[in-house]
Amino acid sequence: MTYLGIDIGTSGVKALLLDRDGKPIGEATAKAVEPVRPHPGWSEQNPADWWNATLEAADKLARAHPAEMAAVRGIGLSGHMHGATLLDKNDQVLRPCILWNDGRSAAECTEMEAALPSLRDIAGNIAMPGFTAPKIAWVRKHEPEIYAKIAKVLLPKAYVRLLLTGEHVEEMSDAAGTLWLDVARRDWSDDLLRVTGLDRSHMPRLVEGSAPSAALKREFVDRWGMSGEVIVAGGAGDNAAAACGIGAIQPGEGFVSLGTSGVLFVSNDRFRPNTRGAVHAFCHAVPRTWHQMGVILSATDSLNWLARITGQDPAKLAGAAEAQFEGPGEEIFLPYLSGERTPHNNAGARGSFVGLSHSTDTAKLAQAVMEGVAFAFRDCKRVLNDAGTDLGRLIAVGGGSKSELWLKLIATNLDTEIAITDEGDFGGALGVARLGLCAAEGADPTEIMQNPAIRRVITPDASLADAYSRQYERYRALYPAIEEARR
Ligand code: XUL
Repeated sequence: MTYLGIDIGTSGVKALLLDRDGKPIGEATAKAVEPVRPHPGWSEQNPADWWNATLEAADKLARAHPAEMAAVRGIGLSGHMHGATLLDKNDQVLRPCILWNDGRSAAECTEMEAALPSLRDIAGNIAMPGFTAPKIAWVRKHEPEIYAKIAKVLLPKAYVRLLLTGEHVEEMSDAAGTLWLDVARRDWSDDLLRVTGLDRSHMPRLVEGSAPSAALKREFVDRWGMSGEVIVAGGAGDNAAAACGIGAIQPGEGFVSLGTSGVLFVSNDRFRPNTRGAVHAFCHAVPRTWHQMGVILSATDSLNWLARITGQDPAKLAGAAEAQFEGPGEEIFLPYLSGERTPHNNAGARGSFVGLSHSTDTAKLAQAVMEGVAFAFRDCKRVLNDAGTDLGRLIAVGGGSKSELWLKLIATNLDTEIAITDEGDFGGALGVARLGLCAAEGADPTEIMQNPAIRRVITPDASLADAYSRQYERYRALYPAIEEARR
């Protein structure tokens, strides 16, 4: 028996096969068409792109591993969170999906909070433009003819699930990022839905991430050479999925993710909001478990941006910074290229370079970018601490964690150890393949979600701690000063 994890990302889809002992057998990827930015601060993608990439990745896996693919009993889905996929009464997509990193709905957030003063208490989160509900409020105001036709709102992976199974189902970790969920009760909130003029009929049915959601349609069972009933688990939003992949489901366990966006993630045994610090307090993908996240919108995206405009390769830029690293310099970077969520909740914030001189070169700019992202994580740690959470050792995930300098800067600024796992992929696709196993076999998640073997631990550099504390104070002072000047 085997299990399939499908991770739907904004840049592509990864499909991964797992055996009954939890060992990955093979994987395949397919690129999706990149999101478009029709206006500054907007970000949209066509749901058909996720579907085509899902089929391409699963087909590739079936060609490379036909026997193992035929033995699949359970499937788990992971997806980028918050995106609003609007469907009419025939399940046809009404407009491109407005994505998690789209900042257009700041005015609607303010209006929603004014309309329902208890919004933050029920949702456990601030109304932020990244979340789903404000996007619908924007559509209601600016595209009323589309709003009038909405029969269902699905998150990206629930749309792929609909095509795979024919059913509208969502699970708790992703549902928590809509602003329509009563996160403490793990149920849709009628009051929250009413703020955007919706009700339960517009929502998919809810299940836990490790529970069955629906069965795979016969046409796909046949297409991939499977047999019998193949169960699709609830699955997880991409961050909860990554946590399942590295085994972070017990209280205090967490990770730091250096992907397009950056995430500082910690599991909790109860619901622990801190809306003042723009902490994300969501359900986890396993029952009776929650998690907190600090989310920064431009992590590797910041270095990729610098690489793009200087015509260089991001890994080479990181290497050049490492080669001439001597501790903090004069240059400071604020990584708010797409606005910021934690701790500022300001979609209109913008990035800055400060302290440039004739001796500033691209390597120094790259170092400042990596430091700026480390400082943004330090801000996240501060507000998680304010919510009563202490960070233990974190596991590093995401493409940027290949840079040891970047991890050293983060470990030093968070004053915590960061573990690098053995070679292999411990990301979202593995996490949801594990959830597929739990759902198909009724297995206990705490037995399945084991920690990976650790290859190396990056420790904070005590000799740099004071210098970085001073530089962090300068970094913190810049945001209000620059915002004031931009007004
Ligand atoms: C989390 C968030 C991002 C996306 C990235 O709140 O918006 O991590 O899930 O895919």
